[in-house]
Amino acid sequence: MASAVVTVAALLFGLIPISSSLPFILLHGIGSQCSNGGVGNFTQLLSNLSGSPGFCLEIGDGEDDSWFMPLPKQASVACEKVKLLKELSQGYNIVAQSQGNMVARGLIEFCDSGPPVRNYVSLAGPHAGIASVPLCGSGEICRLADELIKLEIYSDYIQDRLAPSGYIKIPTDITSYLQHSKYLPKLNNEKADDRNSTFKDRFTSLHNLVLVMFEDDKVLVPKETSWFGFYPDGDFHRLLSPQQTKLYEEDWIGLKTLDDAGRVKFVSVAGEHIRMAHDDVLKYVVPYLR
Ligand SMILES: *[C@@H]1O[C@H](CO)[C@@H](O)[C@H](O)[C@H]1NC(C)=O
Ligand SMILES: *[C@@H]1O[C@H](CO)[C@@H](O)[C@H](O)[C@H]1NC(C)=O
Ligand SMILES: *[C@@H]1O[C@H](CO)[C@@H](O)[C@H](O)[C@H]1NC(C)=O
Repeated sequence: MASAVVTVAALLFGLIPISSSLPFILLHGIGSQCSNGGVGNFTQLLSNLSGSPGFCLEIGDGEDDSWFMPLPKQASVACEKVKLLKELSQGYNIVAQSQGNMVARGLIEFCDSGPPVRNYVSLAGPHAGIASVPLCGSGEICRLADELIKLEIYSDYIQDRLAPSGYIKIPTDITSYLQHSKYLPKLNNEKADDRNSTFKDRFTSLHNLVLVMFEDDKVLVPKETSWFGFYPDGDFHRLLSPQQTKLYEEDWIGLKTLDDAGRVKFVSVAGEHIRMAHDDVLKYVVPYLR
């Protein structure tokens, strides 16, 4: 009751714009969770700066599931959650950090009858894959993850148990990757005989795609994957710019279409993996949440 009164008063005095801006969701990276001060604060900060409601969307129990729930499952859990959040029913924007970008793109491409995504700001997303496993650390979870990674990365056993295995792409093992990786080949429409134009149509419907790469990123190998750049098949020594990749040239998911329409911003900022300076947040994130 009290909050209803406050809401009406706020509307009357113009504190809440009636044609208010779209809400956004934040998708955190691996080994993090919404209840961590850092991620929660960042969501709050973006909300404060943009004036738009923001929700940190948790998948499963947070930190552990970010490592051990496979990405196809993470994406479908996220899809069910956004459908239940009535605040998002008119559409929403996404800000995603690191592995959270794999979930974000799953929401955009795979979420049948989900609300539309308008702007998508990607902070250090492993969009074209990563050629080595992410740095973990020394905790119990990391030990377990390291043990798993030592086994065969494209085996069903690992694919079904370790989230990052869904976007590990070893350039010298493309055949196994295309046959057995259960997430990224589908997300990027990489399989010649199995491309789904619905995924492309959905991705192409974004109004703005902001791809932020961190100049000192040592977690993503190569850091250019944040822009869809990657190594050519079979070769670790050269790097293709986004525009030189087949994904772009043949427009598998609509990246070229979006770029031709002026709707992709390739942004490079100073700093380590997802450490974004306040000025850069103001410049490259906040405007897309208004
Ligand atoms: C969250 O923000 C508050 C104030 O804005 C600050 O005091 C606190 O240290 C921040 N916490 C983290 C973990 O960054
Ligand atoms: C957001 O704004 C609220 C209200 O002004 C303030 O209490 C809070 O510290 C701010 N949080 C951040 C992270 O900026
Ligand atoms: C493509 O994806 C859509 C949406 O998930 C699905 O309904 C459709 O059956 C898929 N098409 C093919 C050919 O697999």
